Amino acid sequence: MLSIPVEEFLFWKKKQLSKGGDQQSFAVLLDCIGGISISDQNLISISPEINLHLRKNLEFLESIWNEHLIESCPIQYLCGITFWRDLKLKVTNKVLIPRPETELIVDIVFNIFKKKSEKLFFAELGTGSGAISISLALAYPFSDVVATDIDRDALEIANKNYINSYKKSNLKFYCGNWWSPLEGFKGKLDLAISNPPYIPQGTYEKLPKEVKDFEPKVALLGGEDGLKHIKEIIQKAPFFLKEKGWLILENHFDQGEKVKQLLFKNKFTSIEIVKDLSGIGRFTIGRYK
Ligand SMILES: C[S@@+](CC[C@H](N)C(=O)[O-])C[C@H]1O[C@@H](n2cnc3c(N)ncnc32)[C@H](O)[C@@H]1O
Repeated sequence: MLSIPVEEFLFWKKKQLSKGGDQQSFAVLLDCIGGISISDQNLISISPEINLHLRKNLEFLESIWNEHLIESCPIQYLCGITFWRDLKLKVTNKVLIPRPETELIVDIVFNIFKKKSEKLFFAELGTGSGAISISLALAYPFSDVVATDIDRDALEIANKNYINSYKKSNLKFYCGNWWSPLEGFKGKLDLAISNPPYIPQGTYEKLPKEVKDFEPKVALLGGEDGLKHIKEIIQKAPFFLKEKGWLILENHFDQGEKVKQLLFKNKFTSIEIVKDLSGIGRFTIGRYK
């Protein structure tokens, strides 16, 4: 551990942020590599007289920050960690960095299934880092959660995150295309949830470098119109959901109405577009009959 005066640290921090980047990314760097937790970072500015204990020296932290700025590599990949809801998750370039706007999907579940002590059966399709499934397994300890992904490497990360977050075993991971690994659970699910790849081809080509060059294409691209995977998930959902079971989907900012129509065509009821905190219709939910 290295000890430096807070004043010196704050001067250095200001210099780093003046080069570019955002406060949140810098906070991830300080927490994961510097060893200063997010809560301690918030305390620093109100106790400027103390000394700060760093796990790595300022030169080392600066070299990672420079790499992030020059290469446009997401800081989460450089640090190998991201924060999502109350989880600290391992991430590599094999998984999408779970986005803050996706956090709300868990609150939608809380709103539907209010009794946490109930024994329910949930499935997540396309789990990536495992963020959504792990949150649900933690929040509903008496329920069972099954999570799928087509990418074995992603599932390995999700499993590590699960082991790090929780000791109980109410979450199981399966590899395969959307519903296919869940054949044994037909008609049994109270809820299926998915944040599938939904970026249309044309939009994908124009994504910022930090996304397109670093995050997995399989996690982002949703075919020509972005709806390829969403259609497949909706069409097969009725075979897997219980009667009155729920389907919750995240979609691109402008896909809500189309997803609503797809749910309607496949005999879903109680269909609703749920807005995120920026007022964007990011989620579409429905109930099978
Ligand atoms: C947008 S990411 C979502 C990851 C994570 N659930 C989240 O919200 O951060 C989509 C995920 O779906 C997975 N995926 C893509 N195509 C798939 C398929 N055909 N079957 C199952 N999973 C798939 C990707 O590997 C990726 O992990």
